[in-house]
Amino acid sequence: MTVSGSPMAGRPGQTVRDSAAEMAQLVLPHEANVHGTVLGGTVMHWIDLAAAVVAARHCRRPVVTAAIDEMSFLAPIQVGQLALLHGRLTLVDTSSMEIRVDVDSEDLMSGERRHTSTAFVTFVALDPVTRRPIEVPPLVLETDDERAEHARALERRRHRLARRAAPRPGSPG
Ligand SMILES: CC(C)(COP(=O)(O)OP(=O)(O)OC[C@H]1O[C@@H](n2cnc3c(N)ncnc32)[C@H](O)[C@@H]1OP(=O)(O)O)[C@@H](O)C(=O)NCCC(=O)NCCS
Repeated sequence: MTVSGSPMAGRPGQTVRDSAAEMAQLVLPHEANVHGTVLGGTVMHWIDLAAAVVAARHCRRPVVTAAIDEMSFLAPIQVGQLALLHGRLTLVDTSSMEIRVDVDSEDLMSGERRHTSTAFVTFVALDPVTRRPIEVPPLVLETDDERAEHARALERRRHRLARRAAPRPGSPG
């Protein structure tokens, strides 16, 4: 077993399975665009919620969304179909956590499933009193898949933090 997240290394960690979450949403007409398929913003809302559940389960503290990486919509989800969201932790740092959320559609008549999106969401745990970032428990990686995903997550985090540090267009300096 590998424990990621050096600041709390040595403290009891939590596995990916401990916080993983499944969510099913039936796509209703008021969530659809003029083509009868779910709005992209609605899917992003569900992704944010699924990731928030995973993050809060891991740290049992208030959590806020810090970043959502670029995401694509690979296939539409029709009104009357299910959107199935599966969220799991890929990386835990000091106060931040990266959650991978995969979205599939399921046709309730045929049972056919299609992968429609994958998103990587960063949540930060907050101290309930000061509302400042607070340390979270380390992540225990149990499988080769989890270790491979964690290695990719480290690379994504490196890029994310570089983008955050880069000056914004039009900003002084
Ligand atoms: C996220 C937030 C708490 C970070 O606060 P901050 O004062 O910038 O804190 P820090 O610079 O100390 O960063 C804290 C952690 O957040 C991470 N972080 C902050 N902004 C980030 C970003 N854009 N992308 C990825 N990680 C980020 C830092 O890397 C750090 O991680 P670590 O503790 O694991 O090393 C703050 O920016 C915030 O409150 N944002 C608004 C959140 C919000 O309203 N979300 C939508 C509704 S939930």
